[in-house]
Amino acid sequence: MTASTVPALRPLTLGQHRVWPPVVLAPMAGITNIGFRRLCREQGGGIYVCEMITTRALVERNPKTLRMIAFGDDENPRSLQLYGTDPEITAAAVRIVVERNLADHIDLNFGCPVPKVTRRGGGAALPWRRRLFARLVRAAVAAAAPSGVPVTVKMRKGIDDDHLTYVEAGLAAQEAGVAAVALHGRTASQRYSGTADWDAIATLKQALDVPVLGNGDIWEADDALRMVAHTGVDGVVIGRGCLGRPWLFADLEAAFNGRPERRLPILGEVAVTMRRHAELLVDQFTAGARSPARGERDGCTDFRKHVAWYLKGFPVGGELRRSLAMIESLAQLDDLLGKLDPAEPFPVTALGQPRGRTNSPGKVSLPEGWLASRDDDTVPEGAEMDDSGG
Ligand SMILES: Cc1cc2nc3c(=O)[nH]c(=O)nc-3n(C[C@H](O)[C@H](O)[C@H](O)COP(=O)(O)O)c2cc1C
Repeated sequence: MTASTVPALRPLTLGQHRVWPPVVLAPMAGITNIGFRRLCREQGGGIYVCEMITTRALVERNPKTLRMIAFGDDENPRSLQLYGTDPEITAAAVRIVVERNLADHIDLNFGCPVPKVTRRGGGAALPWRRRLFARLVRAAVAAAAPSGVPVTVKMRKGIDDDHLTYVEAGLAAQEAGVAAVALHGRTASQRYSGTADWDAIATLKQALDVPVLGNGDIWEADDALRMVAHTGVDGVVIGRGCLGRPWLFADLEAAFNGRPERRLPILGEVAVTMRRHAELLVDQFTAGARSPARGERDGCTDFRKHVAWYLKGFPVGGELRRSLAMIESLAQLDDLLGKLDPAEPFPVTALGQPRGRTNSPGKVSLPEGWLASRDDDTVPEGAEMDDSGG
């Protein structure tokens, strides 16, 4: 695939923002914090969405949630994802965001397949209740309108293959005034199993006039070009593919600019990136910590989950891996990274392979009677979560 065979190599338009390359870092709870986003932004252009923020927690001024809404001075546009199920609370949260100038773009989460969320009618369960969905999106768009902050939605294909919602929900979101619609080409019941359905993404692109963003199974930069060619989407959303591989954003920038280079870092270069990532997390956690020592420990603890992703496919012994996944300080990290063989070539067998969550499909937990009442627009009880971050 070369850039010349790709139909739509244009900047992505989100309201007043022009984004080039048309690449979006997917919101990932527990991952896409300010430190991780900076690490990715240092690699290439695009839009980098923060971790999910719960509307109710924001409206209640929950301190942890307020701390999570943190952006770098040079982050532009500042992109925030909200999770909500109640149109009024969502509108109130959006008003806080725009009145306090907390972000330049708001994405609404309708894709979360986690049982504790769908069981209450939130996340990926919500678009099934079409009137509630439309009301919620309209409320968010209206609250953001005076500021000009664009609102987008991110959703899955539906609850399962017998209960697909994406075309209808996409049209309703467009009608409500969203700036773009992102589709993860899986149903909630698939969770992260199987492969993403790019044909569904193409179908949605055909159906809508607003920009459509394609999401699911982009593991390499050339997969992004393939998705654009296959579906005609206006932009791509990258989730698990960049875990332990922030340089994927450099490859994406090269790919969208028609350049052939792709990064295959040797282990020494991966170690430098790991150190940078840990350092950024330490900076982030130190900013809100009682003491620098506490910030360093919390930053290092947050870094641990990334170790296995960075080392995937490299011949590194189990003991060293385990020790790296237990670090408490940057000095300890440096010591352990020093034990890696810097000349070890990148394991090309790991290219194009799924990483991160790949769990099996399952029946979606839903509130009693949910499927039988599509036009009921009652706000589901207890579906508003009061903690952010998924
Ligand atoms: C660890 C993790 C956390 C996630 N958290 C969120 C979230 O908070 N909001 C959201 O809309 N999607 C979330 N997702 C889904 C991703 O944004 C994305 O839609 C999904 O991973 C599919 O894209 P991919 O195949 O590129 O990974 C999460 C995914 C992962 C792996």
